[in-house]
Amino acid sequence: MKLATGTLAVLAAFGTVAAQQPARDPIGTGPSLELVHLYFDQWPTGVAVSSSGRIFSCYPLGLDATNTRYQVAELGSNNTESPFPNAQINTPPGGAVDYSTNPPQSKGLSNYFISVQSVVVDPKDRLWVLDTGRALLSNGTLTTSNPGGPKLVGIDLTNNSIFQTILFPPTVAFADSYPNDVRFDLRPSVTSSGQGIAYLTDSSSEGRNGIIVVDLGTGESWRHLNNIPQVRPEPGFYANVWGESVYMNPGNGMPVSRLAFGADGITLSNDGETLYFSVVSGRHLYGVPTSRLRDRGLSSELFATGSVMDLGQKGVSDGLESDSNGIVYAGSVETDSIVTFNPQNGTVQTYVRDSRIGWPDTFSVSGSYLYFTENELWRGPSQQGGVDRRVKPYALYRVPLLNNATKISLV
Ligand SMILES: *[C@@H]1O[C@H](CO)[C@@H](O)[C@H](O)[C@H]1NC(C)=O
Ligand SMILES: *[C@@H]1O[C@H](CO)[C@@H](O)[C@H](O)[C@H]1NC(C)=O
Ligand SMILES: *[C@@H]1O[C@H](CO)[C@@H](O)[C@H](O)[C@H]1NC(C)=O
Ligand SMILES: *[C@@H]1O[C@H](CO)[C@@H](O)[C@H](O)[C@H]1NC(C)=O
Ligand SMILES: *[C@@H]1O[C@H](CO)[C@@H](O)[C@H](O)[C@H]1NC(C)=O
Repeated sequence: MKLATGTLAVLAAFGTVAAQQPARDPIGTGPSLELVHLYFDQWPTGVAVSSSGRIFSCYPLGLDATNTRYQVAELGSNNTESPFPNAQINTPPGGAVDYSTNPPQSKGLSNYFISVQSVVVDPKDRLWVLDTGRALLSNGTLTTSNPGGPKLVGIDLTNNSIFQTILFPPTVAFADSYPNDVRFDLRPSVTSSGQGIAYLTDSSSEGRNGIIVVDLGTGESWRHLNNIPQVRPEPGFYANVWGESVYMNPGNGMPVSRLAFGADGITLSNDGETLYFSVVSGRHLYGVPTSRLRDRGLSSELFATGSVMDLGQKGVSDGLESDSNGIVYAGSVETDSIVTFNPQNGTVQTYVRDSRIGWPDTFSVSGSYLYFTENELWRGPSQQGGVDRRVKPYALYRVPLLNNATKISLV
């Protein structure tokens, strides 16, 4: 009798527990995020970490009209930020916009930063600053560039001095181009000039998308994959972050449309032979043999466009990164996560999932860590009907790379 009562009580308890707690999404997966820096001042996109652990960020004036104090900063302890390499280059005289023309245009100043979209530490531990040359007006209009504005600036981190400035001619960075992100292969064998090569994405929302290639020895640049479907926003693209729809919605009486960002994320395979890229307004990861991009022969664009591989879907991401084991990392803004693509078996898996992840913008590898900015891009005024719904501080996190991997070394 006692036994029977006890058994019934136990069964009843199980029944109650089961009814009150159906399965739920556990959210957390993978290594825990380590908070590295909080951004209380300007709105960041890029991050670059040197081999000794120095950290740099950029704050493009082209995406946030209030990013007027500095375009590049070195991050210090206790969440401090100092203009880098100095205050002067970060403050064009009279501002970045020329209001004497109608409509206003960005100034073509080669000795100043106009709007820096990315910062990247190359395999020789040098910092490169990618300037789109395009500033945003306070009413949400993105001005066009002038020659001198769009450029790559190389900075020697042993003495914080500029060693090279590569200007993009207007036939490569068009006035309405948006040079977005860049990766470096410094192996002497990849060019006849022997100083290595850079590959960039052009993510322009109004102009032509594609890949820009730069010979770092001669300073020459050229385009490939011009406006092919794989570098363009996918038709009908729709995304959702933290349970909210994300559209292009600038307010100011301007129409609501789908997010239209072209080729944006870019990274190299560990042997430098494959360039991976993806658009923000799409879900596919693409690869292309880098030899096809370096080729400037008469049929090179035909061969380049014909050699793009669709590596499958990985979710919606902004920046990409890769490691010494060949793993490709991508954000997945719709699943609060960072995913990995394994080129050995073509699979995509969730690596880290955390409710603090919404828009992992840009990645950087240093030591055996993957650093990434979380910048709430989708809550900015151009997505929210002109209302700024971003909440400071923005954050920089890091997680260990998968299987103790390190940075790719193409030197
Ligand atoms: C860190 O910053 C906070 C807020 O500005 C300040 O109160 C605190 O004294 C700082 N700590 C150090 C060690 O500098
Ligand atoms: C924004 O301001 C510029 C410069 O005054 C002007 O040319 C442009 O038409 C404005 N755009 C909108 C949408 O009001
Ligand atoms: C900075 O260091 C590099 C490498 O040692 C050197 O070539 C360059 O001249 C230095 N620049 C300045 C301005 O001292
Ligand atoms: C793909 O390869 C990785 C690494 O060997 C492994 O962890 C993963 O389970 C593989 N994926 C599938 C679906 O087999
Ligand atoms: C990574 O390194 C740690 C510490 O050195 C070691 O214990 C672990 O086995 C390594 N993991 C892999 C997958 O190599």
